Amino acid sequence: MKNVSIYFIGRKQGIGFRRYRLSHLENRRKDEYEGLQDAYKKIRQVRLIQNADVVWVRVRPEHTKDYERIIIEKRLKAIRGKVPIINDINIFDNYDCKNLSFDIWRGNNIQCPNHITISINNFKNNFSNIVKSINEFIEKNHKIFLRTNNETSANGMVFLTVSSTEKEIKKAVNMLIDRCQTFLPNRKSTKIMGVEYISPNDENKFQDIYRVHILFNKVLSFYAVTSKNIIFHNIDMIEPDIERFIKLNKDLCKKMPELEQCILKSAHSLGCNLGAVEFFIKNNKPILLELNPMWGGHASKHGFGNTKFQNYLKENRSYLEKEIPNVYKFIDRRLYYKNLYETISYHVLNKR
Ligand SMILES: Nc1ncnc2c1ncn2[C@@H]1O[C@H](COP(=O)(O)OP(=O)(O)OP(=O)(O)O)[C@@H](O)[C@H]1O
Ligand SMILES: [Mg+2]
Repeated sequence: MKNVSIYFIGRKQGIGFRRYRLSHLENRRKDEYEGLQDAYKKIRQVRLIQNADVVWVRVRPEHTKDYERIIIEKRLKAIRGKVPIINDINIFDNYDCKNLSFDIWRGNNIQCPNHITISINNFKNNFSNIVKSINEFIEKNHKIFLRTNNETSANGMVFLTVSSTEKEIKKAVNMLIDRCQTFLPNRKSTKIMGVEYISPNDENKFQDIYRVHILFNKVLSFYAVTSKNIIFHNIDMIEPDIERFIKLNKDLCKKMPELEQCILKSAHSLGCNLGAVEFFIKNNKPILLELNPMWGGHASKHGFGNTKFQNYLKENRSYLEKEIPNVYKFIDRRLYYKNLYETISYHVLNKR
């Protein structure tokens, strides 16, 4: 059986003195390494980039500084075009800067929230104009998030509505200017953006968010999460959300074939071949929110929802697994990563 060689490059591996290092896989996911070992008949990690059949750029975007990108770029130049590169560093901004993701998606006829971008050139000496344009944006969209374009974990996000006062808006702008000033020396693409708030479809105010993980031209996994919070992540799901969570995931299993092409296109249009695509659904069409190249959050570590939520899923696995197989497939981590690495191997062998 043929074996594929994979080389990882990131901030702590694959560069400088660390170019031969096999350890320090950036943002290593729980059980990922074991999954890679389980796939050893099909894929193995190598120490030398020149021996690689495929290279995977692993950087935690929010911690990646411009100079680190340049170092990685220098190493990749030599092999670009010769072997496939997973999430090449030269497309970093496409997913890291949400304003750019939105622009690219719009250009490809993929729906995403309305947005405005405010860059550093417009800051301090133009304060009143900024506030004016944000006011206009709120008027048009009623509810918005004012936020930085490249933070994660809901940092640097303020919810503003037509009822927000001038004082609240100015306070939010000042806070975001300060955040940008902190990041700009190391991350030059940092900007402020206004994003249209996508309202929940559900009359009980449940907001549903969908996530699909893609690798090359395949869907690896998918799931839906739901909550009554305005800002939420998987960890925020609580017991009263379970019923809806199950229903949404059941429905998603049916809807996936129809969504697949659009989701793959949304990742590929950013130049990404691996990532978690996050979106809402309105009128059966996805509205794209972000692409996360290095998923590994709470769901990948602990499972879905808070502890009681997770326990419910565990205790009821025997009957629920038939209804929502996607959810259980995602939390069987070791097998999941084995499959991920085998899929990389398969793709590389079939591209030769
Ligand atoms: N345009 C929007 N409409 C409705 N809800 C939104 C919108 N943007 C963000 N949210 C809410 O805020 C949460 C965090 O937003 P988003 O995913 O954009 O942020 P993040 O902090 O960059 O990333 P990450 O999810 O990777 O930690 C989302 O999970 C969602 O609950
Ligand atoms: Mg998110």
